[in-house]
Amino acid sequence: MICVKPVKQEFVAEIGEIDLSRTLPDDIFAEVEQAFNRYAVLIFRNQPLTEDQQIAFAIRFGELEISVQPFVSVPASKRRISTNFSDISNLDENGQLVSQTDNRRFINLANQFWHTDSSFKRTPGKMSMLSAQVVVPEGGETEFADMRAAWEALPAARQEALVNLVAEHDYFRSRVMVGLDPNSISPERRASRPAVPQVLVRQHPASGRKSLYLASHITHIYGMDIAESRRLVDELTAHATQPQFVYTHRWAIDDVVMWDNRCTMHRGRPHDETQPRAMRRATVKDVGPTVPENWHYAA
Ligand SMILES: [Fe+2]
Repeated sequence: MICVKPVKQEFVAEIGEIDLSRTLPDDIFAEVEQAFNRYAVLIFRNQPLTEDQQIAFAIRFGELEISVQPFVSVPASKRRISTNFSDISNLDENGQLVSQTDNRRFINLANQFWHTDSSFKRTPGKMSMLSAQVVVPEGGETEFADMRAAWEALPAARQEALVNLVAEHDYFRSRVMVGLDPNSISPERRASRPAVPQVLVRQHPASGRKSLYLASHITHIYGMDIAESRRLVDELTAHATQPQFVYTHRWAIDDVVMWDNRCTMHRGRPHDETQPRAMRRATVKDVGPTVPENWHYAA
């Protein structure tokens, strides 16, 4: 039996009595999965995992997502770690700090906006799992917002007005917001990652709970102009990230934290960029798009 210790009620739990470096027996994995579906954010302390061990645990949750970084931001030859991971670090392929103008720095800065992973893909991320190898002494926390609790706190009439909306998510929006020059995005790079539609309100397949599905990647809501869309998305983001819905994780070396992208948002907090920080994220895809492939907005 694993030990499940709630850290923030019905949202975050710390899992003990478990060794993630070993293959978990099915019944133990089922307990972890049950906790994941209930809480949405799970913390495992003191789990020094190799890349292979982390991947082996992650793929118990579904199909692995290959990082978009080599295709749209960082060439494979300049990667520090395998494309099985998103590189959440400020280090280059030689372990040196990246420069102020490096694409990898814009990725890190964009991660400081509230988002959910890979919502800019037609089939977005289901689960993300970060493991920490190098942590900074101050700052660099990851904050998580419970989008189910945020949804449930909205008045019924408001929920009704939101429930059928669809938003456009664009990978480049959050990068441009932090200073990436839009003119530096080549047509090929742009075409490799087209904007995609996502529902604004999701229902969790295991818990049945509904949640807001928001991210800094949203450009607009279909059927609304940009200004109206921004007002709505900003207001809902402010609502969902109030302290009662948020958990802040302070990283220690060998922490593994996994979260459910279908019903949470997260963001990285700033830190001294002259201090090295290294984490790697394995991401598992959802089972399919949130809107049908042949969907088109009809006014
Ligand atoms: Fe993220």
